[in-house]
Order: sequence, then C-alpha cells, then structure tokens
Amino acid sequence: MRRPSAPPATSSALPRRAVLAGGLALAACTRPAESASAPAASGPVAPLKAAPFPVGAALTAEQLADPSAQGLLTANFSQLTCGLEMKMETILRDDGGFDFAKADAMAAFARAHGMRLHGHTLVWYIYRPKAFERVAADKAAFANAYRNYILAVAGRYRGQAAGWDVVNEPTAEDGDGYRQCLWSEAFGMDYVDRALRHAREADPTAVLFVNEYNLESLPRKRASFMRLIEDLLRRGAPLGGVGTQMHMGYDQDPAAVGAMMRDLAGFGLPIHVSELDVSTRRRALGPGLGDRLQSQARLIGATVEAFMALPPAQRYAFTMWGLRDKDSWLRSPLQKGDPDDRPLLFDDAGRPKPAARAFVQAAVRT
Ligand code: XIL
Repeated sequence: MRRPSAPPATSSALPRRAVLAGGLALAACTRPAESASAPAASGPVAPLKAAPFPVGAALTAEQLADPSAQGLLTANFSQLTCGLEMKMETILRDDGGFDFAKADAMAAFARAHGMRLHGHTLVWYIYRPKAFERVAADKAAFANAYRNYILAVAGRYRGQAAGWDVVNEPTAEDGDGYRQCLWSEAFGMDYVDRALRHAREADPTAVLFVNEYNLESLPRKRASFMRLIEDLLRRGAPLGGVGTQMHMGYDQDPAAVGAMMRDLAGFGLPIHVSELDVSTRRRALGPGLGDRLQSQARLIGATVEAFMALPPAQRYAFTMWGLRDKDSWLRSPLQKGDPDDRPLLFDDAGRPKPAARAFVQAAVRT
C-alpha cells in the first residue's frame, strides 16, 4: 500500500460521509433540549450500563484482583478491555513464544460476568520486540512472524472478543503523516492493511478497529487519520470500526468533540470511544478543584451526548480508561503523572463523581 499521505482528492467514502453527516445532524435535531449543562449535584446515580450502548472499562489484571474493583466494575460496566495483558509486551516473549496466562484470566472474568471483551491491541508503533528484530533482515520470515502473531492472538479470543484494536496510534504525533516504526520499516504503510487482513483471517466476526488519540483536539491529526481510513476502505481492507481514544484535559472545548464525532461518523462505521479520561491536572493559574471537576463533568456529558447522536448501529461502545481515579495511568510515575489527578468517573473510594452523573444524565433517558 502506498503511504496514504497523498490520497485521491475524491474517494468513494466521501459521498457516504456527506449523506451520513446529514443523518447525524437530523438525529441531533430531535434532541433540542440536550445541553452540556452542569449535572444534578445529588441523588442516586443509575448504573452506567443502563446506557443504550456497551459501556467499557480498561483494567489491569492487578486492579481486577481487588474485590471492590470487581463489584464496581460489574455493577456499572458491560465491557472489559485489558490495560496491559493483551499487548505484545505481555504476550510475546523474547524467544518468540507466547504467554497468554494473564489475558486468558481476564477473558475468563469477562465471560463469567457476562461482559463483552474488547481486544487491545495487536500492532502498536511503540514496540520493537526482540523476537521480531531477530528476523527483521529476512523479509519472508518477518512477514511470517507478523502473520503468526496476529493469528495466534486474535485467533485465541475468536468468538469472544467483540472487537480488536488491530492497529494502535498509526498517525504521527502532530498529525504530519504517519509514524515510522518497526512495522512500517518492514511493510511501509501496508502494515496496517496486512494486520487487518490477518486479524480477519483469525476471527471472521470481530469488529476490526484502527485506534487513535487527540482526534478531537488536533484537526490536522484527524485529517491524516481519516485519509488513512479512506485509503483502507478504498482498498477493501476489512476495517470494521473507528476508535477514538479521547484522553482529554478538563479545559478542552466540548464543541470540538461534536465536530470530531460527526467527521468520524461520516464513514458509516461503528465508533468506539475507546480510552476516555479527562485529566484535572491544574494548568498554571487554573481554577480550583471543584470547578475543574465540574468542567470535567460537562466535557464528559457533552461526549456522551455526541455519542448518543450517532445512529445506534454506529455506537460500538464507550470505554473509560480505568475505573477509579486511583487506578488511572495518569497518576503513574511511569507517565510522569500527577498523583492528584482525578480523570475518571469514580473517586478513589469508588463513589460516583459529578462526571458519572453527567454520563448517566446524557445516556439514560427516563
Ligand atoms: C497505557 C496503560 O494504561 C499503562 O498502564 C501503560 O504503562 C502504558 O499504556 N493509549 C493506549 C493505551 O492505547 O494502551 C495506553 O495504556 C494509554 C494510551
């Protein structure tokens, strides 16, 4: 596949996009009373999973071992993503062997609790595994290892994983083209197309995603990402959905979320809000915590409203990247995180925050 940095000016996806964007606008018009206003301050909060779409959470195996996390998870969420356990860093050993113990345990938890499983992630630019580096000089051996890895992982959860983030974060950080990585060094941008085809071979029914972040905040990055999607569709790649991670900050513009959702919806494919969190990390001279938590609630409420404005068939799932504030990767020293960050829907003690109320208010119509 050519690098899709210079797509044709027109593509078959465009008319479809225009039509669907019209439909979306109409759907939005039927809900004129909706607004991203402040959520009610008190009263019981319905379970998040009362929403008319799957509501996901990402946890690590370690977090899932905590019984109080299990209770909160199963009461509120209907879908599970593994934070680490289905990534190459966990599954692929240096000798080329596979270790599925943690991923299997989490898949079994999801099964036992009637939760949908979302696979994350098969191919990610950040990895340069020894097992692949070793065969990089031999094109055929590399291609074989690539296919084998995807077949083994996606094949193992065939029939259980509702979908897979087949390729994670292919677009350059600032949106200027695409990331260079071990996979693009071997195949050019064809690594995306290949990964999708191998995943389809492994699992004939899972919804296959390409997943990206900062699509709401960087229109230029969104445009590059959408060119890649258009190119894949034009080539007949088995792409089944679009993943938008949505790692946001409390002071981001809610209107930008609607604009992104309408753009992505234009492909007519299911959309996964795949990794939502809203950092409350204070900017210089930023407002106090109470105000930041209210801004967070408004932004999350607006995101749920934008998701609800999609036709139901395009709502794959809405996933939070963590359960309680204390579980968030944004607190981790590894990420140079802020130990005071409160990015999620539940506080450290598992109590619903204003953002949880805003979620329910936007998603659950009584
Ligand atoms: C994060 C995990 O939450 C961390 O525990 C880990 O150290 C790094 O990865 N985008 C993604 C996720 O697609 O896989 C990342 O998860 C967060 C950013």
